[in-house]
Amino acid sequence: MKISIDSEKILILDFGSQYTQLIARRIREIGVYSEIVSHQISFKEIKKNKPNGIILSGGPESVYAKKTLTLDPEILKSNIPILGICYGMQLIAQHFQGKVKTSKKSEFGNTSIKLYRGKILQKISNKDLNVWMSHGDKVTHLPKGFKKIASSKNCSIAAFANEKHKKYGLQFHPEVTHTEKGSKIFESFIKDVCDCKAKWRSKNIVEKLINDIRSQVGNGKVLLGISGGVDSSVAAALLSKAIGSKLECIFVDNGLLRKDEAKQVKKDLKKALGIKINFSDSEALFLKNLKGQSDPEKKRKIIGKTFIDVFLKEAKKIKKIEFLAQGTIYPDVIESSGIKGGKAHVIKSHHNVGGLPDYLKLPLVEPLNSLFKDEVRKIGLTLGLPKSLIGRHPFPGPGLAVRMLGEISKEKLEVLREADQIFIEELVNANLYNKVSQAFAVFLPIKSVGVVGDARRYEYVIALRAAETIDFMTAKASKLSHNLLNKVSDRIINEIPKVSRVVYDISSKPPATIEWE
Ligand code: XMP
Repeated sequence: MKISIDSEKILILDFGSQYTQLIARRIREIGVYSEIVSHQISFKEIKKNKPNGIILSGGPESVYAKKTLTLDPEILKSNIPILGICYGMQLIAQHFQGKVKTSKKSEFGNTSIKLYRGKILQKISNKDLNVWMSHGDKVTHLPKGFKKIASSKNCSIAAFANEKHKKYGLQFHPEVTHTEKGSKIFESFIKDVCDCKAKWRSKNIVEKLINDIRSQVGNGKVLLGISGGVDSSVAAALLSKAIGSKLECIFVDNGLLRKDEAKQVKKDLKKALGIKINFSDSEALFLKNLKGQSDPEKKRKIIGKTFIDVFLKEAKKIKKIEFLAQGTIYPDVIESSGIKGGKAHVIKSHHNVGGLPDYLKLPLVEPLNSLFKDEVRKIGLTLGLPKSLIGRHPFPGPGLAVRMLGEISKEKLEVLREADQIFIEELVNANLYNKVSQAFAVFLPIKSVGVVGDARRYEYVIALRAAETIDFMTAKASKLSHNLLNKVSDRIINEIPKVSRVVYDISSKPPATIEWE
């Protein structure tokens, strides 16, 4: 029997853990399709999805609080294999008449646990394991039919199992990298308990996505806006493979791109895939509309609106478009679907293709909307895009505008582009470009005094930002060496006469954000 790659599936019921997305990624890495759904999903819906297994995420709640997050009890009664993590484990315990109590001591951080025998631990030969704990409550009495399979000093029942009913619980978090061999536990659950064959691999994913695109759009023409970023480039590559010349791409050069970026993207997409791009050089229009503006939100709004205007004008030149494609990826879908039910505060109004006029309110084609960023990168390489494009750091829609404080001008943008290029070049030379998640220069509209040679210089300040993050929701400043920072600073001040000082941004997110505006 041929197994279609997403006919095997693990559903993750989200109870609000900050690690839910990580669980989904770990499972995909093992080669099985996983999807995050609300904890409110009914058993009827679950049956329609035909999952091979279910994972209950952790969460900030207490199982015995008055208004707590629960799940349809039919799910737990069913014979579907279930793994509960942290809060998920406590829900299982409560349902099967175990006991959960608030511990006197909350456990947060790395702990050593002792392992006993159990199917989900069978790929681990260690007797002790270093794991990541983050909990206030804990299971104090085993539920009926369950046995203890791990314990720690502060948590006697650190993991339990009911092998007959295929129900498992872990008080620790196997999804975080601080847990030793966490992936092995998932692998046993998925392959040995849920009996999955693990077919979710780049080559198969590409084949599936191409087939999906073809069956969605048939012979229709598809329009895609490309930005030069990884997501829209991979979407372009996939669509081009699927429908060839029926794909029309528009690239808007807003004059806010990095050095040589527009040229490079055109070259890469053309060289790797022969994709034709409708190119719009709109630098002058963007700079005119931005003139005199220094408020960050106003700048973002102007860029968003100008982009839509230009995009629309270009789109009108193309006849008979039937679909609009977007490079939306799975985390975007998760964020906007509000699976957790809460609404996040708007910190910055992100600019992607939103607010299109009726003329372009066409059926959407979103070939990447079930993929995580690392999967998008892998399939980009499978499709033949160059490593330099795939590995490029993320770049915000409003471009250098959010890295230039105050009013924007062509002259200042040139300074910023040069400084940014020097910083990136030195990171590449030091073999650090792929180790930091995002690095860039920021233009500060203040002047400071310096002395270069024998001459006094009264010029601008450049800030350098390098951040390390997994999900871009939280980030730490990279601990770059002083030697490297000195080298970058010397080069920037020597090579760019309009700069007299360089500083390094050491703030974490939160409270700072990664971009400066
Ligand atoms: P912040 O500054 O919010 O950035 O910490 C987190 C990540 O988002 C990127 N970013 C954007 N991406 N449109 C985008 O497509 C935007 O308006 C935007 N603003 C920030 C930022 O570069 C970082 O990777």
